[in-house]
Amino acid sequence: MDTLEAIASRRSIRKFKPDPVPRELVERLLEATVQAPSGKNRQPWWFVVVEGEKRREMVRILREGIAKRKEEGADPGSSEWTANVMEQAPVTIFIFNEAAEESSAPDEGGNVVDVQSIGGAIQTMLLAAEDLGLGTLWICDVFYAYRELQAWLGRKDQMIAAVSVGYADEDPGPRPRKPWSEVTTWIGE
Ligand SMILES: Cc1cc2nc3c(=O)[nH]c(=O)nc-3n(C[C@H](O)[C@H](O)[C@H](O)COP(=O)(O)O)c2cc1C
Repeated sequence: MDTLEAIASRRSIRKFKPDPVPRELVERLLEATVQAPSGKNRQPWWFVVVEGEKRREMVRILREGIAKRKEEGADPGSSEWTANVMEQAPVTIFIFNEAAEESSAPDEGGNVVDVQSIGGAIQTMLLAAEDLGLGTLWICDVFYAYRELQAWLGRKDQMIAAVSVGYADEDPGPRPRKPWSEVTTWIGE
């Protein structure tokens, strides 16, 4: 698969088959991910892979966080649906910014360059997964249980996102995009 093909065919997957993903494939995915560029080549990322039955605990913590936020009056948005997707997916990879020590909130700490580097690494992961025949979902709804998941995952640094990975059990069409010509200005001749 060439790169443009992977870019065109990738979709957010919200229905996964129960089939486990072999450890070797997850390792190949991570090997591709760490090839991403990073500011000053700082490689600020840290990955925590949750697989197998452990994901039930992860999802329980997320659901408890969502319930707590709802009690506080927050709108749960799509988070309950996302928790169901994470329960289905055999693997979820959390991505932390280890250059942002002791950060306890998604919008605290974290140099913008390091956060960009990690965004690039996540996109690299998604495209590599596409090439390896794996479906993915990039997830920020984990922020509904930010501190709780951070503690459960044994991290003190900044949680950036999670990516659920597995074999897709759906084949969604392309989601709408603003045409590039509507979001681009040209300066020049
Ligand atoms: C930073 C970021 C956070 C996202 N968080 C979630 C999420 O928590 N739950 C979810 O279902 N999708 C999430 N998505 C997926 C987007 O909804 C999806 O990329 C967008 O709707 C376009 O669809 P596509 O990826 O199939 O092209 C996230 C995507 C990004 C880039």
